[in-house]
Amino acid sequence: MKIAFFSAQPYDEQFFNRFNDSYGFELAFHEEQLDEENAALATGADAVCVFVNDTVDANVCKRLKTGNVKIVALRCAGFNNVDLEAAKANGLQVCRVPAYSPEAVAEHALALIMTLNRKTHKAYNRVREQNFLLNGLLGFNIHGKTVGVIGTGNIGKSFCRIMTGLGCKVRAFDLIANKDMEAIGVEYLPLVDVLQSDIISLHCPLNEQTRHLINEQTIALVKKGAMLINTGRGGLIDTKAVIAGLSSGQIGYLGIDVYEQEEHLFFRDLSSNIIRDDEIQRLMSFPNVLVTAHQAFFTGEAMEQIASVTLNSIHQLLKSGNLNNRAALLV
Ligand code: NAI
Repeated sequence: MKIAFFSAQPYDEQFFNRFNDSYGFELAFHEEQLDEENAALATGADAVCVFVNDTVDANVCKRLKTGNVKIVALRCAGFNNVDLEAAKANGLQVCRVPAYSPEAVAEHALALIMTLNRKTHKAYNRVREQNFLLNGLLGFNIHGKTVGVIGTGNIGKSFCRIMTGLGCKVRAFDLIANKDMEAIGVEYLPLVDVLQSDIISLHCPLNEQTRHLINEQTIALVKKGAMLINTGRGGLIDTKAVIAGLSSGQIGYLGIDVYEQEEHLFFRDLSSNIIRDDEIQRLMSFPNVLVTAHQAFFTGEAMEQIASVTLNSIHQLLKSGNLNNRAALLV
């Protein structure tokens, strides 16, 4: 049984090879992103294993079917890059890793907050240059601040626990209020109220309802000078609107691990290239913006979970056409 990996990095090979010992699949690692053109690389594979910026649209699904592929296994939680109807129509089963390590992502959101606030990235460079001045490094206490969480699923809940632990007043917006969160003091409020927080963190999936959730209108509702954190998906934020919000001072800090056009940039070394994306260049020019390149998931614990759950799902699907873990099966 063969699995073709797309967007494969050395760490994917390392973790998947380690966990494949008990399955014995033939693993083919391709650096290329999955798209219509590269779908031919999957010919002869029973399953493809894809990541956040691979495209699994209707045309790709058709090509995968032609190549006799039966399973699309996402080695991530979000599945906004997959056309589930087209997958179904082409006889493809689609699975994901629903909750590999929510703490990894929640802790990275905290890292973005702490770095933006206390400017440790600037202090590190400053001290290495023997500049021991504090001017420009003034932060604020996180304790006592209001934190607005949009989406309280696996990651959002972990983030709420961290922020309540730090002594914040946590408010949340979700389609469904979670009783465990209410029990630790999280208050569910309408979006307009949650936007009035000192720190806003996005943890909902990207779909038709949430695309550009942060746009010109919602930015106008934000508390002036608030910190906005996005470890969800780039499309949750309208980049042009957020640049305008940063320019006017309406948004005081922006920490993003995901970016609308990231598929052209992230997971590559472009240090010798001319980047023609003026929006990311503009964002990176703000002193109060911190960009990381989709690394929130990237801990050893999360990679172990991703590899073991993905291989187990493919094994189960090939054997019985079903999964014990219902949340992992999308189609
Ligand atoms: P989850 O499915 O456990 O939780 C999502 C929550 O969002 C649910 O409670 C759901 O009710 C809520 N939601 C859905 N639509 C909403 C809306 N319109 N408004 C408000 N809330 C809404 O997902 P999980 O595991 O917590 O992940 C959340 C997202 O984080 C994923 O969809 C993925 O895009 C992103 N992610 C990013 C990673 C990174 O490395 N930066 C890694 C893993 C996930």
